[in-house]
Amino acid sequence: MLNIVIFGAPGSGKGTQSQLIIEKYGLHHISTGEILREEIENKTELGLIADEYISQGHLVPDQLVIDMLSNLLDKHQGVKGFLFDGFPRTLAQGEALDVLLREKGSSVAAVLSLTVNEEELTQRLLKRGQDSGRSDDNIETIKERLNVYRSQTEPLKNYYRKNGRLFKVQGEGAVDEIFEGIMETLDHLTF
Ligand code: AP5
Ligand code: MG
Repeated sequence: MLNIVIFGAPGSGKGTQSQLIIEKYGLHHISTGEILREEIENKTELGLIADEYISQGHLVPDQLVIDMLSNLLDKHQGVKGFLFDGFPRTLAQGEALDVLLREKGSSVAAVLSLTVNEEELTQRLLKRGQDSGRSDDNIETIKERLNVYRSQTEPLKNYYRKNGRLFKVQGEGAVDEIFEGIMETLDHLTF
């Protein structure tokens, strides 16, 4: 299995680049944000809880997200590999992912870390907020999402850097140029 994590701040282009990556590398895309939004849409028990956190720009509690992910890994056995988008977001999630994959005889091969400056992130999300209908695409919540990213998610970079799995990718510029950088990184890796 080839498992990749696409990592970056809110608005860094994780979802956009994921579409291109799964097409080229044949991976199964798991966006925890998208799945949680579906749960909200369907008014499930998990959705009702998640809604409170997401609309405030806060993270949904680790155990809920880890259990959800564990179920998804079991559901999609036999795929070529996974592309994790928006997961892991805390050290506890990173460690849990390693354990879950190890149980399947696999691991995270690479973490692609998209770098984009905060001004650009805010502008992209505000622009999307004009028609996305996402409860978290407004200026107050965007600021909180960026705070949460800096305090809870960014420290995970060290976790992956320590064992040589972190790869920085330029996240500013045109979508296809950014994807070129991703392909260059992935194609130079031997899995
Ligand atoms: P999630 O859905 O993961 O959102 P996010 O991380 O805040 O990031 P976005 O999806 O907004 O941005 P993106 O990086 O995917 O960029 P995109 O390609 O869309 O999470 C939402 C919430 O769910 C969290 O806050 C949390 O509450 C909860 N949650 C999710 N996962 C969780 C977890 N593991 N644990 C706990 N809670 C969790 O691009 C953004 C915009 O920019 C788009 O409009 C796009 O068209 C545009 N754009 C993309 N690339 C470019 C470019 N190169 N140039 C110009 N514009 C561009
Ligand atoms: Mg996204």
